[in-house]
Amino acid sequence: MYVRSFADGNGDGTGDINGLRSRLRYLKELGIDAIWINPWYKSPLHDGGYDVSDYRVIEPRYGTVADAEALIADAHDHGIRLIIDLVPNHTSSEHAWFVEATQAQPGDPARQRYHIRKGRGVNGSEPPTNWTSVFGGPAWTRLDDGEWYLHLFDHTQPDLNWENPEVRSEFESVLRFWLDRGVDGFRVDVAHGLVKDMSFPDMDNSDQEILAGATQVDHPFWDLDGVHEIIRGWRTILEEYSLPGAERMMVAEAWVAAERLGNYLRPDEYHQSFNFDLLSSEWDAPSMRSIIAGACAQATSVGSTPTWVLSNHDVVRHATRYGLPSGTNWRRWLLEGPHDLLDAELGHRRARAAALTLLGLPGSSYIYQGDELGLPEVWDLPVEVLDDPVWEQSGHTRKGRDGCRVPLPWTPDGTSFGFGSNGSWLPQPPSFSALSAQNQTGNDASMLELYRRALSIRNEHLTMDESIRIIDSEPTVVAFERGSGVQCWLNLGDDPIRLPTNASVLLASEPIDKELPGNTSAWLTLPKTHTSSPR
Ligand code: GLC
Repeated sequence: MYVRSFADGNGDGTGDINGLRSRLRYLKELGIDAIWINPWYKSPLHDGGYDVSDYRVIEPRYGTVADAEALIADAHDHGIRLIIDLVPNHTSSEHAWFVEATQAQPGDPARQRYHIRKGRGVNGSEPPTNWTSVFGGPAWTRLDDGEWYLHLFDHTQPDLNWENPEVRSEFESVLRFWLDRGVDGFRVDVAHGLVKDMSFPDMDNSDQEILAGATQVDHPFWDLDGVHEIIRGWRTILEEYSLPGAERMMVAEAWVAAERLGNYLRPDEYHQSFNFDLLSSEWDAPSMRSIIAGACAQATSVGSTPTWVLSNHDVVRHATRYGLPSGTNWRRWLLEGPHDLLDAELGHRRARAAALTLLGLPGSSYIYQGDELGLPEVWDLPVEVLDDPVWEQSGHTRKGRDGCRVPLPWTPDGTSFGFGSNGSWLPQPPSFSALSAQNQTGNDASMLELYRRALSIRNEHLTMDESIRIIDSEPTVVAFERGSGVQCWLNLGDDPIRLPTNASVLLASEPIDKELPGNTSAWLTLPKTHTSSPR
């Protein structure tokens, strides 16, 4: 949940905790069981709150710690758990530690909490390594006294030095601070990046796309073995706070090679790790089939549960991605186009079909706010309103992630379609009116009602038995059967396919009869087969 864009309770154009509290009923009726909320800590919001200046204070634009406590209590009253975002890789440059570091002399212990180094070349005028920031440009910025500090992301997000025991104990204390306030767990930001190779080797290829290059092996800062010891320390704390029926959990944002993901899921490490393979997959049956089979097998082998993600606050919304020709680099397409390649209607239809696949799978399916409304990427935001540091940091060569962060439409009218009483921090397109929650409520053909029905069936029939069996099917189809006997069929081709005879349709993404049209999915039940008893 991108709190800044969900609901604005005080009319300042920015979403906030009280806005979210006022919409808990909507979330309950949608049928979800937990909320992961993006960072809500005090922050100059240079990277939407992933630049934290105080981990124990709520950003004033979002509310107060008392509001946060009230939200946790209200969410629990609705039977919804609340997971918060932990940002341990870097702080904001406005964090007291970084301010102290920049005021200290070279060599001072206050500098050891970050990666601050002498440069190379004449007078140290070259950065210590050739690493580039994930957002574009060099990963090092020079301080006034000539030393350089490392930032894998924006220059306002200096990387912490996790070799320093003070950093470790500070984060353990932050975990306890929020566990004491009742949060149910943590989503850990850049979980694979905390440890750097302290010999600081240059990279052969220092190009990084946003979080896409993180799957390279032998990398100087992604997925180094040292991260696991840190995680085990956090897990011990979570266990200490867990009670039967009220377990505390953590889920990793680890963009690592599929075969390395299991390392994060060992019994004394993360409970879950996001699997981004479906998100990264083309609209292609063999690819999706093998991702599903692989993720389920891997989760079983480490005693974890699979996770599924189609969209989040960092990527182009899938209703738009699925409307682009296969092979399009959607990050670059935002700026470079050609924009008439987009078939928005097809994208919307496929997003409906994908919803039933996402929600038909075992384990945890993470829905990004607005996907349940079928929101498209607002790819045509004028560059003057862009807020994501990617735009500046990349020298205006990448448009960034604002298009998936446009505030939600709640009503068909009003200055911000019901987001708040006084406009919204990013402009919403007129098409948001028809997609508003109010407009879709009660309309059986809407995306919102599809999600509601799917979640209701999922909660009733699909969660008590987590097993899955992939069904042999035609090359353009992904089909699987869940432990309860419900089958999920997704036709990724353009031509209709025949469904099993005797199948009854529980739910479908488009009106269907005996055949499953192209770009459509359905949940089916089949009569139980009885073995006839011997005479
Ligand atoms: C994660 C967040 C992203 C943020 C980055 C740096 O990938 O999801 O939004 O910009 O980390 O904190």
